[in-house]
Formats: sequence, structure tokens, C-alpha cells
Amino acid sequence: MKPKVFLAKQVPNEVISFLTEHTEVEVWKGESPIPRRELLNKIQEVEGLLLSGIKIDSQLLERAPHLKIVSNSSVGYNNFDIEKMAMHNVIGTHTPFVLDDTVADLAFGLILSAARRIPELDRFVKEGKWEEKLEDDLFGLDVHHKTIGIIGMGRVGEAIAKRAKLGFNMNVLYHNRNRKLDVETSLGAVYKKLNELLQEADFVVLMVPLTEETKHLIAEREFSLMKQSAFFINTSRGETIDEQALIKALENKEIRGAGLDVFEQEPIDQNHPFLKLDNVITLPHIGSATMQTRSQMAMVAAENLVAGVTGKIPKHVVPE
Ligand code: DGY
Repeated sequence: MKPKVFLAKQVPNEVISFLTEHTEVEVWKGESPIPRRELLNKIQEVEGLLLSGIKIDSQLLERAPHLKIVSNSSVGYNNFDIEKMAMHNVIGTHTPFVLDDTVADLAFGLILSAARRIPELDRFVKEGKWEEKLEDDLFGLDVHHKTIGIIGMGRVGEAIAKRAKLGFNMNVLYHNRNRKLDVETSLGAVYKKLNELLQEADFVVLMVPLTEETKHLIAEREFSLMKQSAFFINTSRGETIDEQALIKALENKEIRGAGLDVFEQEPIDQNHPFLKLDNVITLPHIGSATMQTRSQMAMVAAENLVAGVTGKIPKHVVPE
């Protein structure tokens, strides 16, 4: 008999075909995310679960006596309670590598959009305001040859640094738990203490995983260190910053603007102050959301899942 697995999200047909060769698959077909009650019901029989972002905690683990693996179709795995999973002999996996360039592209999209005011000027044209010569109060700021400060020099951080150096001739500063001598040699990136990076960068890009140490890593004090002309970009997780502190910094023009792909609460509340501020660009957590990359992530997640339920060691067990 094939092991039973449950997919709490839809995946491309070729991923289903692959899974069907090795497992008995059931997929959540609902339009909206699976309700918790439904998930708690589904997991009772299965040995493997594939999902993204859903909290894996004691309540769920206690209801899943056969569960061996939870396969995240994402690189971040802050939804896992790793300790509790270990207590229940459940392993967790994620999908690194395949999304690095895609997320780095989006970080650059936010940098360019914020500095060159692309969304704002798109609205300007569509609202019929482009009637005369463009006044210089609508001009943006250059990106090329400026200083970027990358907090979190993992794989995505490095992909951002490459774009910055090789594509835009930027001066690259970084802050990380460990020095990355290869990036220093290949891209001339300069390691900085966090305070120094915040004080010197024209674009501060946050790309750290969410952990106990990085929760609210960037708060009031950190925003106050940034240049008034600087932009803050977050493509990591919403909880890595103190949103109230960022709102204050933006309202008081302590920094020039922000580009955000992630929020403490997703989807963001329609009354959230970010949505009323002109100097913020907001995106619906689309760092990895291209057709090609999301398909690749689903396939990697499926390969991890199959390995986990067939007694093999999956390639991407966390923490790595
Ligand atoms: C991930 O995979 O963790 C990214 O946040 C997706 O955009």
C-alpha cells in the first residue's frame, strides 16, 4: 500500500503525477486556505503533509499519529515548531535554491519602484495628470552607484548583492551572523556592524529568516539611524520589523520611503496605516511568485515529501 499524503495547497499537474507514482494523494481544492478544523481532520490518517505557511504546533501534531514529514513549499520555515516536531518524530523540509534569483529580482523591483517612484507615476499617467511638462517635484532618486546595505547575506542576500554590484555599480555593504569572505572577494562587499550599515546605506534591504533573534530586529532605534534620504526594503518576513516604528519613521519623514513584500499580518488589514502612506510600496508577499519558480518549489517540496514517507532522507531537512 502506498503511504497517504495530504496537500493543503494546490500544485501543478506534473507534481501530482509525480506524487501519485509514490503515494496516495489527497489535495485541498478549496478556493480559500484550508480551515484549521478541516486540516486537523485530514491529518489523522496521513504520513506526509505538504503546505506553505500553516502553523505546525502541538495541537496539530497530537492529532497526527502517523505523520512523518511536513514539507513546506517555501524557503522560510518559521511556521514550524521544530522542537515540538522533533518530540513527535516529525521532520520538516523546505525549498531552498530554486527561488533565490526570483526573490532577488523582486527586491530590486522594490528598490527601483521606490527610488524612481514607478507606482506613483503610473497612477499619475493613468489619472490623466500628465498634461504639461513634468515638474521636478515628481523626480526620483538614482539607484546606480549608490550604497546598498544588505542585512542577511544568505543565498538570496548574495543574489541581491550580485545585481547591485554587477548591474548597478553599487557600493555593497552587508551585515550577517558570519563574515562571507567569498562575497567580499567576488563582489567587493564590505562587512559592517548593523548600526554602521544603517547609517551609511541609501537602500537598506532586510533578508533575514524569522527566528527568535530576528523578531523586530529593525525597530525605532534602527530606523532612527538611517539616512533621511534612505529607503527600507523588506522581502523577508513581516515580524522581522516593528511595523509601528516604521509607520512613525515614514510619517515623520525620518526616512524617504519603503518597499514591503511582507507584513506582520497577511493578508494586510485594509485599514492598515501603510495603505494610506504615499511613501510606501506594498506587495502581497510575492517574492517567489512567478509561474516557473512556484512550480519548481512545488516539485522540490513533493520530492522532499516522497523521500520522507518512503524511508529516505529528504534533501532539504530543516534546520539546515
Ligand atoms: C518563502 O519561500 O519563504 C518566500 O517568502 C516566498 O515568497
